[in-house]
Amino acid sequence: MDGAPGTSYQHITVRKLCGALGAEIGGVDLDKELAPAVVDEIKRAFNENLVICFRGQDLSPAKQIAFTRIFGPCEQHPLYRSAQIDGHPEILVLEHKAGQFVNGRNDIWHADVTFAEAPPLGSILHCRAIEEGFGDTMFANLCLAYDTLSAGMKQMIDPLQAEHSARILQERNNAADYNVPVKEIPPPVNHPVVRIHPDTGRKTLFVNSAYTERLAGMTAAESRPILDYLYAWGTRQEFVYRHRWRVGDVVMFDNRCCWHYVVIDYGPDMHRRMHRTTARGDRPV
Ligand code: SIN
Repeated sequence: MDGAPGTSYQHITVRKLCGALGAEIGGVDLDKELAPAVVDEIKRAFNENLVICFRGQDLSPAKQIAFTRIFGPCEQHPLYRSAQIDGHPEILVLEHKAGQFVNGRNDIWHADVTFAEAPPLGSILHCRAIEEGFGDTMFANLCLAYDTLSAGMKQMIDPLQAEHSARILQERNNAADYNVPVKEIPPPVNHPVVRIHPDTGRKTLFVNSAYTERLAGMTAAESRPILDYLYAWGTRQEFVYRHRWRVGDVVMFDNRCCWHYVVIDYGPDMHRRMHRTTARGDRPV
């Protein structure tokens, strides 16, 4: 089946997963070298759907890194250095086992690493262990969230900048005894509250509850009601896709215009393991 109305795919299949965002891509074995025409269609499906899912894959760390590089340089996480895979520091292991989380728990709506000057273009999650129906990940479409704001709200937030920092992550991480402490964090950076997507030209919200400290030029208290409104708006059910994981899934999400949230609805015995890679993005404008 084809993707968005009016588009057609010759080399892959694209099946929409819900109205807001997300598509399952078929006819692709990511373990094999991908022909340029296939890569072009995968990129188009990514730009049209923001979250793309390939089922039944079995990627070695090297193959996952190679796939990530199709979109941009594969970056190591700037803060988490524990539980790496030997010889592949670009893979971030996100794991829950025997009541312990490795490299943090992510039950907070966020985009990845927006405290960086050039936050990631996208992240790729390869599911290596899961009990199906538990530990789903939700994704929210922030282009849609922006588009559906009132004209007055858009006018107010369009020129604003916001300060992003890793302080909240550091505090959350270091308060929990299951994590290796994050010792140093980079200085805060400002990004536009509304950015232009570099590939599609669409406007998207670019604040998030994990890393945005405040609106530039305002106190945290003054910023709070505006940011809280945007966080609540951006996570309306109409903008959200909930991914039910199977072992072998490879899911890539557009970090420039999506938030994600891991549903921790499982007990201490469940083993959940993801290998995450990240493609470098641009400085938001
Ligand atoms: C994350 O990148 O925040 C984690 C996503 C997941 O484990 O599903």
